[in-house]
Amino acid sequence: MSDIRPESLKRITNQELAKKFVDESVKELKAQIGDKKVLLALSGGVDSSVTAALLIKAIGKNLVCVHVNHGLLRKNESEQVIKTFKDELGATLIYIDAVDRFLDKLANVSDPETKRKIIGKEFIDVFAEEARKLEGIKFLAQGTIYPDILESKGIKAHHNVGGLPEDLNFELVEPVKFLYKDEVRQVGLALGLKEEMVFRQPFPGPGLGVRCPGAITRDRLEQVRESDAILREEFKKCGLSSKVWQYFTIVPDYKTVGIKDNKRTFLNFVVIRAVNSIDATSATVEEIPYDVLFKIRDRILNEVKGINRVLVDITPKPTGTIEWE
Ligand code: XMP
Repeated sequence: MSDIRPESLKRITNQELAKKFVDESVKELKAQIGDKKVLLALSGGVDSSVTAALLIKAIGKNLVCVHVNHGLLRKNESEQVIKTFKDELGATLIYIDAVDRFLDKLANVSDPETKRKIIGKEFIDVFAEEARKLEGIKFLAQGTIYPDILESKGIKAHHNVGGLPEDLNFELVEPVKFLYKDEVRQVGLALGLKEEMVFRQPFPGPGLGVRCPGAITRDRLEQVRESDAILREEFKKCGLSSKVWQYFTIVPDYKTVGIKDNKRTFLNFVVIRAVNSIDATSATVEEIPYDVLFKIRDRILNEVKGINRVLVDITPKPTGTIEWE
């Protein structure tokens, strides 16, 4: 199938068009899948969640969701995925703890593309192993969206585009691959997903791995996870979370000198990034009021171990990408 968005697909700007898309997709998915089983990589992000909801509507119990904890998820994220999909939507969900496996493979790897490729490959391997255990899985569903396809043509290797090893004969199911992010959200609403889930900020497949520039260490990963949780809490409190498209923290592999209790420190720093965008192909920087920034800074410096400095990234896309890697 072509990777170019069909001209017949109108921009999905409202619920009416979204419902039409859902009806047509459900029909197409039923025809494509029949009574076969589909394995879905459910990260819990908007794209895979909407993909899951579409497939649950189309094929119900024949969708097997697999949630892989690769150690690069946000604080409490796995728990939330299980609660939403298993408890609330009644999906078949398998949880895989692959934290050590991913982090061992990523140890000492600092090149961004190599990191992405390792994460992508591990993902495929984990799914393949799971599929072999489950038997009878014919399809692999993915929450690929259109910007992933566009950007994989030369800028970054997005892990969720293609790349299946040849020995696997999964057929790919990518029901939202021609949609931009805002359209995926419209479709999510049309499927009855909660606003809280549909309007959650996008989260990259390689997770916090791309927010730990350089070789990933467990320490820095924890610093990103904790500072991200603080940022999200404070943005929620002051109302910025519903206004800002994407906001997160980064902890590069670099230490600077600081001082605490009259003693020299040599520690990592946290970078805060908050951007607005419509479809991720470009982005502007959100102005964060200084009182909010100071509160976040104080909490990060007090609560996150091993941090002595907090910075703010004010770079739009272009020239920076949204993520640092
Ligand atoms: P960049 O950093 O390329 O990111 O400006 C654009 C948007 O895509 C997200 N992103 C990803 N999403 N898999 C995904 O599903 C990926 O590998 C990936 N890399 C970046 C990023 O968070 C932003 O929203």
